[in-house]
Amino acid sequence: MNKYDFDTVIDRRGTSAIKYEWLDGVFGRHDVSPLWIADLDFAVCPDIVNGLRRRLDHPILGYYACPDSYWEAVSQWLSRRHAMSVKREDMTFIPGVVRGIAYCVNFLTGRGDKVLIQPPVYYPFRLVIEGNGRQVVENPLLFDGKSYTMNLEELARIVETERPKMMILCNPHNPIGIQWDRETLAKVAEICRRGGVTVVSDEIHGDLMLYGRRHIPFVEASEDAREIGIMLGAPSKTFNIPGLVSSWMIIKNPELRRDFYQWLEVNEFSAPMMISVVGAEEAYRHGERWLNEMLNYVEANLEFVDEYVSKNIPGVRIIRPDASFLIWVDFRGLGLCQEDLMDMLLDKARIALNDGTMFGAQGKGFARLNIGCPRAVLAEALDHLKLAVAAVCDCTANS
Ligand SMILES: Cc1ncc(COP(=O)(O)O)c(C=O)c1O
Repeated sequence: MNKYDFDTVIDRRGTSAIKYEWLDGVFGRHDVSPLWIADLDFAVCPDIVNGLRRRLDHPILGYYACPDSYWEAVSQWLSRRHAMSVKREDMTFIPGVVRGIAYCVNFLTGRGDKVLIQPPVYYPFRLVIEGNGRQVVENPLLFDGKSYTMNLEELARIVETERPKMMILCNPHNPIGIQWDRETLAKVAEICRRGGVTVVSDEIHGDLMLYGRRHIPFVEASEDAREIGIMLGAPSKTFNIPGLVSSWMIIKNPELRRDFYQWLEVNEFSAPMMISVVGAEEAYRHGERWLNEMLNYVEANLEFVDEYVSKNIPGVRIIRPDASFLIWVDFRGLGLCQEDLMDMLLDKARIALNDGTMFGAQGKGFARLNIGCPRAVLAEALDHLKLAVAAVCDCTANS
């Protein structure tokens, strides 16, 4: 028997939700179903809200000392969910994973240094690297038309010839939802350690493994990975609390973290905010059942979308993820250029998806669909998509 309700459609307008507020700015219209930015349209676990309320019952909101109980909650969570053993000194607070990446880029590389990414990948990686005057080096994922793998041979070649200082790994990999296997992660670590490359591993989707699959944290993959790895994670995607901006960093190698953690501390980049910590601790301590039920719901949404698309929408295919609520949708079978594809999705289907090319040139012919919403919303969006695709196919057949 389920305790939590994920079916109710909750009106988020008027809550300053980016998913709605930025529709006009990003897509040029707001009368569309927003299935883009990666948060969930589900009510959070009530314990989180109750915990925040309890704290706000006290009328003084003074300078905040993060309690040890918070770090205990994080390490217990990582031990229980990912069999990780983490010590207090390995961890530090960061106000958001993208900011964590930015701190790594700023402290551990210099202007003009090269930083490696593997597109198609979460687009802020590129923005942070280029915005800080560093150079992007790409090692695109290999795609055989059905699934993606990492190009390890090319990685070794690039590390040797281009000498990047850092690699930003996405594990699981947004937008495709791949959980990299231990062998692949260990190979990445071996190549990067040999080449003197620090690996920053963004694992924000790591708690969202589907169908009981296991998340493999990069720093746990091998001895090499432990030496050169920086793990970034958060309860934000896990419990749908990105608005609380609560994330953490784990560096197991004391040599790698000593000066870096000190720099974060003196600049107060790692000073936790009360609201972030209170909400996150409640989530880690009381949100597990909610998470498990939410993941079951997302799995059912994935089955629903896969079946609907394969039965009803010719020329469109989904790449099934190992993790998370984002689906990489392959529209290449429609034979549309990217502009026409995005026009069709917006103007005809009235759905706002992330344009695949945001994630790199390799995303041409793709878009990213967020299925973290009530099934009824998805059903309506897919009905619209079916009609829009049929209309476009009729036009191309008749022209
Ligand atoms: C891979 C990845 N990293 C980071 C973020 C954003 O993290 P934060 O809001 O903590 O900066 C997202 C959000 O979609 C993401 O998918």
